[in-house]
Amino acid sequence: MNALARASKQALQTAARGFASGAYPDRKVAVLGAAGGIGQPLSLLMKLSPYVSELALYDIAGTPGVAADVSHINSKAAVKGYAGEDQLGEALKGADVVIIPAGVPRKPGMTRDDLFKINAGIVKALVEACGKHCPKALLNIISNPVNSTVPIAAETLKRLGVYDEKRVLGVTTLDVVRAKTFYAEKAGLDVSKVDVPVVGGHAGVTILPLFSQAVPGANKLSDADIDALTKRTQDGGTEVVQAKAGKGSATLSMAYAGALFADACLRGLNGDPDVVECTYVASNITEVPFFSSKVKLGKNGVEQVYGLGELNDYEKAGLKAMMPELRASIEKGISFAKESQ
Ligand code: NAI
Repeated sequence: MNALARASKQALQTAARGFASGAYPDRKVAVLGAAGGIGQPLSLLMKLSPYVSELALYDIAGTPGVAADVSHINSKAAVKGYAGEDQLGEALKGADVVIIPAGVPRKPGMTRDDLFKINAGIVKALVEACGKHCPKALLNIISNPVNSTVPIAAETLKRLGVYDEKRVLGVTTLDVVRAKTFYAEKAGLDVSKVDVPVVGGHAGVTILPLFSQAVPGANKLSDADIDALTKRTQDGGTEVVQAKAGKGSATLSMAYAGALFADACLRGLNGDPDVVECTYVASNITEVPFFSSKVKLGKNGVEQVYGLGELNDYEKAGLKAMMPELRASIEKGISFAKESQ
């Protein structure tokens, strides 16, 4: 079995999360925005993670209740709630992984970029605090628009003199989760045995599932099927926003995806070999400075950013088409962080 195949198998095993508490090193995880639609179920799932010994739940309000509730679950992690800015430093101190789902979600008719005005400032302030209180932590950035918030995080940490590109990761796992689900359904495959890489960014056309590299392959799918699957993956978030009709965006599937990704980061930190996930990171595999592709996670975060492998013509066209939007979103994030010093 090659490294990527082993990693896929491991990712599937991680999907079978439970109450196990093996002999793993002590790890502190902080969730910022823990009282929100994503934050609450994500806090629940991290409480169930065998890799977490301390769970800090931070939000501007509401976290004492969430923490009291989650803390009654009989699993390993010790839970503490932190509310309000003056408790943020304490929440972050000693954190190995910080998961950030803080900020406003989309309403019908909004793009992720419409969230920029509010979320850019929130992410900047929270990352600044991370730079001061836990500069070595791996940051898992969920707040949208991820295509811009990750560059904002990078610039913010640069200014503090603590930027390490191996430790700032944009969470695109939900795109992978969706691509796997939709592909398995269409191809009639066992979804637990399916893997689909998704590359690019995390908004509309910048989300590019590589079905030509899906495992196992499904020859019976037509070009029209692949086009429909690609579009459904790109619009998966909007499908949920519309169905929720003004009551927010994906929260439950996002919490699941966020927990899978945080677990992968923790396994990497713990020295598990061959932990590979798609994630949006500083990258030089394309013409833009941030890009999501398969990444090997290790003891210091990103250990290796893998190239895209062989793309078919449809995927090559998708890659070309996303570049203007992705580049603009990255530049917008960098300018915001520079101008709001
Ligand atoms: P929500 O509104 O239900 O929860 C957001 C939480 O953030 C609230 O509890 C709020 O009090 C908190 N918050 C606001 N400002 C804060 C601050 N300065 N410090 C700490 N907490 C703060 O929103 P939801 O549905 O949980 O979504 C959160 C974010 O995740 C949105 O930006 C959304 O677009 C994004 N998202 C990302 C996805 C991805 O795949 N990366 C998928 C789905 C949503």
